[in-house]
Amino acid sequence: MSIKVNFNNMMKSVLGKEGISDEDLLQISDFAKQAHEKVERGRGLAMQGWMDSPYNQQAVVAQINAAAKEIQNRFENFVVLGIGGSALGPIAVFTALKHLYYNELSKEKRGTPRFYVVDNVDPERMNALFDIIDAEKTMFNVITKSGATSETMSQYLIIMDMLQSKLGDKATENVIATTSESKGNLIKLSKRDGIKTFYIPDGVGGRFSELSPVGLLPAAVVGIDISKMLDGARDMDKKCKSGSLSENPALTTAALQYLSIKQGKNIGVMMPYADSLKYISDWYAQLWAESLGKETDLDGNYVNVGQTPVKALGVTDQHSQVQLYNEGPYDKVITFIEVENFRSSTVIPNGCEDFPDVNFLCGHTLNELMSKELYATRYALTKRGRMNYTIVLDEVNEYNIGALLYYMQLQTAYAGAMFNVDAYNQPGVEGGKNATYALFGRKGYEQVAEEIRSAKSDDDKYIV
Ligand code: PA5
Repeated sequence: MSIKVNFNNMMKSVLGKEGISDEDLLQISDFAKQAHEKVERGRGLAMQGWMDSPYNQQAVVAQINAAAKEIQNRFENFVVLGIGGSALGPIAVFTALKHLYYNELSKEKRGTPRFYVVDNVDPERMNALFDIIDAEKTMFNVITKSGATSETMSQYLIIMDMLQSKLGDKATENVIATTSESKGNLIKLSKRDGIKTFYIPDGVGGRFSELSPVGLLPAAVVGIDISKMLDGARDMDKKCKSGSLSENPALTTAALQYLSIKQGKNIGVMMPYADSLKYISDWYAQLWAESLGKETDLDGNYVNVGQTPVKALGVTDQHSQVQLYNEGPYDKVITFIEVENFRSSTVIPNGCEDFPDVNFLCGHTLNELMSKELYATRYALTKRGRMNYTIVLDEVNEYNIGALLYYMQLQTAYAGAMFNVDAYNQPGVEGGKNATYALFGRKGYEQVAEEIRSAKSDDDKYIV
């Protein structure tokens, strides 16, 4: 396993009074063990089906790879239609593992179809997509676990209408559905129209679904070795088998986050120092926010817990947000992701000998600059007592990405158990979904529509 977590800069011995003491860790160790046991007891049950993904999804790898091969042979573009957990994972993994200007590469250099994810219903973006792709040469992968999400179903209808106008009866050949086998409308439509389908296992919720066909098919289409991703996840699972803090990295960071949230660190910054990992932060933000941000705990008490995830990127955000992290309120935990070995190296050439203030950079590499800037930022934050820890990857590859995603899922599950909340529901999201249905007059949502109608309308006094 080539992922380590260095949490020295969370500790009192380094940070001073803002830090966590060895005694705090000792005191929380039994509580953490219980959280671990609770998560383990739920393995594979109810909405914890995702814990089995590294094992049972290996069985669909061959099917996914066969479909991916066919798509690679027949299509120039691959477009994911989905939102939330049905989009953020595919974006994160694609960005992590493919060329950073992949779509702009020539067909020969890419070797696999261009890749797009449409995860919004912005009409301009949808039309803009049609300006750059030839729909007939495009495979659309419509992904929705519930098969009911308004945004994704709208996209599906637009795409089908357009494909039918161009391809008639053959329209369905350009669509693959990834959805629940047992519920929702997409599965019914797919069966009716003969659309090829991959299934999301019942116990795998949207934000925990990247290691199912949701993420594996898009990844395989662009040539990512999905078997290695699952291997990484499996080995991370093994590494986290122990309920002891000193042995289980995901349990350790869950406990550190739990303790720091209790101390008022209500903001969690995720700051990878690699462009390839930029969208891991977006994926993580959904996982952490939607799983832990809850009004009530499992006993029905009003708790209003959660930690607000903030997405940042090193070094870019050193020139924007880091000022706040250093001098603003002591309300954050900063998680750095460090990559020890980049996949390429760029030398900063000579040519500034007469300008010592620039010349000091010459002969070094951008790799060194990235690494030293991370070191320096961490040093400055730590000196000011700002909690931070670093997830260290030896390199960005399929195995490590699978392990990283699984580690973050486990950390979230443990934290959910520590806060005694249901990490797998999202009643706060459902509220908005239901109001949208009501606003469109959907049958069954009459009461919500009535509530909305009787709500106080905006007062002009507060509009300027
Ligand atoms: O994590 C979740 O369950 C949600 O964020 C979903 O991923 C999101 O709402 C999209 O749902 P669906 O895949 O059912 O369209």
